[in-house]
Amino acid sequence: MQEIHQQINHWYQRNARDLPWRRPGVSGWAVMVSEFMLQQTPVVRVLPVWEQWMHRWPRPQDLAAEPLSEALKAWGRLGYPRRAMRLHAAAIEITTQYNGEVPETEQQLRALPGVGEYTAAAIACFAYGQRTVVVDTNIRRVHARLFGGMALPEPNPRASEFARAKQVQPEEHSSANLWNISVMELGALICTARSPKCDACPVYEHCAWIKAGQPAPHYAPKGQ
Ligand code: ADE
Repeated sequence: MQEIHQQINHWYQRNARDLPWRRPGVSGWAVMVSEFMLQQTPVVRVLPVWEQWMHRWPRPQDLAAEPLSEALKAWGRLGYPRRAMRLHAAAIEITTQYNGEVPETEQQLRALPGVGEYTAAAIACFAYGQRTVVVDTNIRRVHARLFGGMALPEPNPRASEFARAKQVQPEEHSSANLWNISVMELGALICTARSPKCDACPVYEHCAWIKAGQPAPHYAPKGQ
């Protein structure tokens, strides 16, 4: 397992996209805004809106001081504007209950509007370096192939997937957030739903799906 960790982390350090919300020292708020925007919108469309948003509202209290209509306008064409409503409501809660600091525990994060299991784990991990179990569609697909020998994960996540995700994490606390983001990026760039680039994969020789002869999925893939 240690070799897999090293290979994926090494691949990430050479190949990852330089995304502003992943840079060292970004605030919890910067990560939170990115995760809300990325929930249903691709990275390239999120980038300019995230930049404008962070420039205008660098702290939760800056957004909380504005009417919801401004948040909706700035959300623009990202789609699913309910996310902007929830982010605005969350900014108010963070301002009033947490003195303007995005909370650090998954439990506190989960209690905020618009923050589900994935988003809470992602913020705690990417903003605060916690060893949380982050499971999004990209990570689920990498795990299904690399460890499960399946072309695609089941349509709905199962408890056993969370258990496996926890089990395959590096034990060392400090490496968990690099691991989570590296697996996510591998899923986004190499281990894609359709036509994965297995010849460029850093863990090709460990992949249970390759070893099984790349069996086809038992249902049609949905989106990416
Ligand atoms: N980096 C951190 N979280 C991300 C996400 N949800 N999508 C793409 N890149 C990310």
